[in-house]
Amino acid sequence: MKTYKAIIYTALNEKILYLPAVNYYFGLRPDCAMTDCEYQWTWKELDCFLKKESPEEYSVFSRTSIEKRIGNLTHYSESEIRNELELGQFTLCFHPSRKCNLNCKYCFGHSDYLDNQELSFDTIKKAIDYMLYEYAPYGCKYIFDFSGSGEPLLKFDLIRQVTEYCKEKRQEIGKAIEIMFCSNLTLMTREMADYFENESMILLGTSLDGGQETNDNNRIYKNGKGTFQDVKKSLELFQNKKFGIASTITPLNQKVDEIFDELYQLPNVDCISMRYIREYSGSAYDFDHFDIDELLLHYEKLCENVLFQLKQGNFDYLIKLINGADVFGILISQNLRKGGSAPFRCEMGKNRIICGPDGKFYSCSVMMGSKDFCIGSLAEGVRPDLVKKYWERPKDKIPACKACDFHQACGGECYANSYLQYGNMYTTNSKSCQLNIRLNKLSYAFLEHLKRTQPENYQKFVEYSFQISNYTTTNTALWALVKWSTVLGKPLSYEELIKDINPVESTTEGNLVLQKMRQRIPSAESYQMDLSVTAEDFPIPGISVHKRDKKAGGIEYLLVYGIKNKHVIFEGMSTRGIQEMPLKQYLTNISDIILL
Ligand SMILES: C[S@@+](CC[C@H](N)C(=O)[O-])C[C@H]1O[C@@H](n2cnc3c(N)ncnc32)[C@H](O)[C@@H]1O
Repeated sequence: MKTYKAIIYTALNEKILYLPAVNYYFGLRPDCAMTDCEYQWTWKELDCFLKKESPEEYSVFSRTSIEKRIGNLTHYSESEIRNELELGQFTLCFHPSRKCNLNCKYCFGHSDYLDNQELSFDTIKKAIDYMLYEYAPYGCKYIFDFSGSGEPLLKFDLIRQVTEYCKEKRQEIGKAIEIMFCSNLTLMTREMADYFENESMILLGTSLDGGQETNDNNRIYKNGKGTFQDVKKSLELFQNKKFGIASTITPLNQKVDEIFDELYQLPNVDCISMRYIREYSGSAYDFDHFDIDELLLHYEKLCENVLFQLKQGNFDYLIKLINGADVFGILISQNLRKGGSAPFRCEMGKNRIICGPDGKFYSCSVMMGSKDFCIGSLAEGVRPDLVKKYWERPKDKIPACKACDFHQACGGECYANSYLQYGNMYTTNSKSCQLNIRLNKLSYAFLEHLKRTQPENYQKFVEYSFQISNYTTTNTALWALVKWSTVLGKPLSYEELIKDINPVESTTEGNLVLQKMRQRIPSAESYQMDLSVTAEDFPIPGISVHKRDKKAGGIEYLLVYGIKNKHVIFEGMSTRGIQEMPLKQYLTNISDIILL
């Protein structure tokens, strides 16, 4: 008879049952007497146990059969994923400068494979055009990431030039474009700060490894002086701009709870992202020197601190942990949704590519310059034969991943880490795996503990996570208005529109769209279309309102160019270009409302 593994463990005083086959966890009743251990149970035994020991979660889980859940998890269709990602967010990374004014002790910026050529504005423009018009023409948002391996502020003028270029492009395509970079901030002047403060298109980050003592052990000037005080002063130059903090966790600074708390106290911090060092040379910083037990104790302490702050009404403490790219914060957000599968570790070679100063494309920013990570060039584009491997799930390829109980919760080892350690992208590092498994387990316990002891905060967190996952795309009303006004030959400014459109509730959005249209066509109105509508009714294009099905969610605004031979010619952000559809079908399936 078929049996299923059930892993029962205790963390943060919560007893949890994890079911690897369906990547699902259950918080068990506090008085559950079952010993922490791995069990092999038939579905009948499991069903009985869960019904008794986790009644609420069981009622949700049992709405779908276990066979169906397993089927959903094991099903993998590259084309379905490609189709979905094609409409998603895309990132293009650059290393604007290969030089830096600091001499941080562990910096990968000195690696041999990174060449020392400087990036030109011309190369950047070509790469941006390639991304917008060829690589990802149907993307819903674009991010140009200038973090790289040197110090971006050494290229302040270049960043200003690129920003102006991106504004032109944003006006042309009607989609959100953001420029982001991480800086050591030590070169920030008042003049630069004023510029960034007023430039909403630019998102800023800075690197700090903790409070003064911890940071100044690692992040130093060429003369050995620590950077903490100067970074703090630079942060104080800002009033409205918020910063993401990138913190590198090394075996010499494992106290993630203290690091997080110290960084949380700094001004203008939006989120804190603690990530592990990538260092395999045998030095004191080597990843292999991490003490996983000690690290986990600090993560438990971090969880306790977050729970305490939440109880005090400080929701922000949790938000700053999950809003960026913190290793543990990502797991908490991701594991809020139970029963899914992570197909990949990251977006590399798919929705994230890198352009080097040589005009070559690479799959990973850290590995820019390495021929094994080269995936094409400006001349030939991204080559399908060179990116094919990034579309295969590591867990289908790597035996250790296949055998792992947590393989559905994990996208596999980072290709760059694997390559840097073993010269091969398809290996695992047992320490890194152990850490990942234990952090996943801790995140399940954290979420169950929050749910059980602070149900209101748990609910608030669920709602918040849902909001931010919706927030990343370009608002389709904004896109339609920019496109519509451009086709009319009387463009509305993206920069002006975004101020009014983005924060609006969907219920009032239609009226707002009409108001904005009236700035160009004072007689614009909302009409109901029927089968009698003809080309004459469309002296100019209009905007129609498509109530999408539940799965796609919400409302999409579409640009209707007109009617030809009882067919509607239209375009939406998700239609992959201009479409033609019989009027009858359009009225039934898409929309019968037109703003004209
Ligand atoms: C290389 S720096 C470049 C951007 C900028 N100069 C700065 O300091 O933020 C980007 C980030 O990489 C991190 N970093 C440097 N070497 C690293 C390594 N070996 N492993 C992991 N992160 C590293 C830095 O701490 C910093 O947060």
